[in-house]
Amino acid sequence: MKIIGIGSAMPSLAVTNEMLSVFLDTNDEWISSRTGIKQRRIISKDSLKELAAQASLQAIEDAGLTPKDIDFILCSNTVNNFVVPAFSCIIQGEIEAACPCMDLNVACSGFMYALFIADSLIETGKAKNILVLCAEEASRIVNWNERDTCVLFGDGTAAVVLTEGDSFKSHHLSAHSKVEPLYYQRKLEYNPFMKNADGDAPLVMKGKDVFKLAVSSSMSDIKTVLTKANLQIDDIDFFLLHQANMRIIEAIRDNLKQPVEKFPHNIEKYGNTSSASIPILLDELYREGKLEKGNKVVFSAFGAGFTSGAAILEWTK
Ligand code: ACO
Repeated sequence: MKIIGIGSAMPSLAVTNEMLSVFLDTNDEWISSRTGIKQRRIISKDSLKELAAQASLQAIEDAGLTPKDIDFILCSNTVNNFVVPAFSCIIQGEIEAACPCMDLNVACSGFMYALFIADSLIETGKAKNILVLCAEEASRIVNWNERDTCVLFGDGTAAVVLTEGDSFKSHHLSAHSKVEPLYYQRKLEYNPFMKNADGDAPLVMKGKDVFKLAVSSSMSDIKTVLTKANLQIDDIDFFLLHQANMRIIEAIRDNLKQPVEKFPHNIEKYGNTSSASIPILLDELYREGKLEKGNKVVFSAFGAGFTSGAAILEWTK
């Protein structure tokens, strides 16, 4: 499999740390020093659907294809207004594609899982051109009165088009059921046969536990994909890590003993955009001309579950 098209679309509203400190007991100094985030984009006048369609069309155009050439859509999405139909089905209509589509929710690891499924479909000849879309609106699951969580997240969308090729050198996925460190529970409809009604809980996070799980799972995944690809750490040109917290990125970099230039980041501008963070960063690097043919790139993401995944690709676009 190889990447032949990339696109991204971000909400127009940039919310700075100072803007948050107007209604929250927080400040730029705390947020910047603990997370690296200076601002995030939040959906206000835009909609997730419009942005997701825009990112998808941009990726398809960049691939030199039309929506009718896409024969499978995989959408990583944690939350949107619709439980049914799948968000991918809504976007299929928006972009006028005509192929099977499905959603997957693996929280922030969704891009890694979607790439894995896409690779399997392409390798077995079940699909030729696949659109992987990551569309996230975390701003709608956090409690905006909780300074520990709401300052961390942002909204955003990004998409890639994949086809046959041999850019991807290895993948690794993992999942270990650990609900408490990070979850969002929504209230379901009343069922008259139930003893107890469900509760709801806007995003609950044990920050320190997530921090440790993130660093250990990413370290282990990166080592595994290097071994699977028969590569050494120094062979890697770029590590594109899930943009959750600059201190997590720094901790992983320290452990891997790699130079700072190999760890591009944009968390300062966008916060944590869940599964969209790696493809948004990839799109930015690509458009800025920072990726060269032959570069070896590691992707590594982690998220609620606890899930994680990594992949190595050689840049061929
Ligand atoms: N502004 C000001 N003060 C704050 C804020 C805020 N926004 N949030 C928390 N504080 C206070 C706390 O109340 C606490 O005060 P206290 O000492 O009086 O009790 C103090 O700051 C320190 O809080 P800690 O939780 O110890 O801060 P820590 O250094 O652990 O940083 C953080 C917290 C940033 C959440 C960190 O633990 C972290 O990044 N964890 C990883 C979580 C993460 O990245 N989640 C992203 C989503 S998960 C994913 O993408 C997989």
